[in-house]
Amino acid sequence: MKIAVTGATGVLGQEAVEALVSAGHEVTGVTRRERGIPVVEGRGARAVVADVFDADSLTQAFEGHDVVVNTLAHVPIGMAAMRPLAWREDDKLHTDASVAISSAAAAMGVQRLIQESTVFMYPDNGSEWIGEDEPLSVRNQAFRPRVREMRSAVDFATGGRSSVILRLGQLFGRDPQTTHTLKATRSGDPILLGKPENYITLLHHRDAGRAFVAALGARSGFYNVGGEPITRGRWAKDLGTEAESKKSAKFYPEITQAVVGTRLEVQRRSLRVSSVRFMSETGWRPLIGPSTPGWSRM
Ligand SMILES: NC(=O)c1ccc[n+]([C@@H]2O[C@H](COP(=O)([O-])OP(=O)(O)OC[C@H]3O[C@@H](n4cnc5c(N)ncnc54)[C@H](OP(=O)(O)O)[C@@H]3O)[C@@H](O)[C@H]2O)c1
Repeated sequence: MKIAVTGATGVLGQEAVEALVSAGHEVTGVTRRERGIPVVEGRGARAVVADVFDADSLTQAFEGHDVVVNTLAHVPIGMAAMRPLAWREDDKLHTDASVAISSAAAAMGVQRLIQESTVFMYPDNGSEWIGEDEPLSVRNQAFRPRVREMRSAVDFATGGRSSVILRLGQLFGRDPQTTHTLKATRSGDPILLGKPENYITLLHHRDAGRAFVAALGARSGFYNVGGEPITRGRWAKDLGTEAESKKSAKFYPEITQAVVGTRLEVQRRSLRVSSVRFMSETGWRPLIGPSTPGWSRM
């Protein structure tokens, strides 16, 4: 198949490109700047420079493609996420760019859209499992961009087209956010939110890349994609082991956690998310877990 990937130079996009190329597809990676070209080509795809906010630019990039995979995001790292303007770029990508991408894909006769989304829209559900039919907890306006993005992906699936929305677990691996977390673990600084008994659903980048390939064969709909959920206390231990630190990663004191704001509040939620629907639909399985030795170098 001919597949265009937006956000192709990002953490998720690079994994998606490489996995799609390995699966035998003809892949075009979209980047907004010339310096993104070698990054895309290094993963085995053709690169195209386009502006993801401009419909004309996108229609040229998508011409002749069967599928568009949108992995765009710009998540601020660590406590920088508390700054009021830190999410401005990410918000714009999930509203203006995602809407432009689905419209341009529809206009160019693309048959399938695979849209990255997140499990962080689910409510805290304690130790209960969360499936795709769980109502989302997105009343706060901070979630508006993600809801808008989801709607435009759903709207794409008309007139014989299909869209697959992947609610990805918290990414971990060799990426800026996890590297920051491992650094804090080594220095003994607090880094985790929530409580040790709360659940977290993690997804290694490599497994995320393979999930975009698996999604090519899924019926239209929403799918959770993550590994076996673990407690945050267990994650703290796994981080300690991977950081080769004698101690587990530390939690922020409750008083600090109380003031993190809406964007980081999602990190406090207990999210025991089931990916059974995606696994039975596609045969995808996570291969790298937080207790797999060396996961931060894979
Ligand atoms: N579910 C999750 O837990 C989750 C989800 C996403 C990200 N993250 C984490 O967040 C951290 C940052 O990753 P990220 O994916 O947000 O950022 P990233 O890896 O820097 O990737 C951003 C991608 O979006 C494009 N981009 C960024 N800003 C843009 C803009 N204003 N206009 C157009 N394109 C833009 C970039 O493309 P060009 O510059 O080439 O155009 C790049 O391909 C990582 O540690 C990652 O693991 C976690």
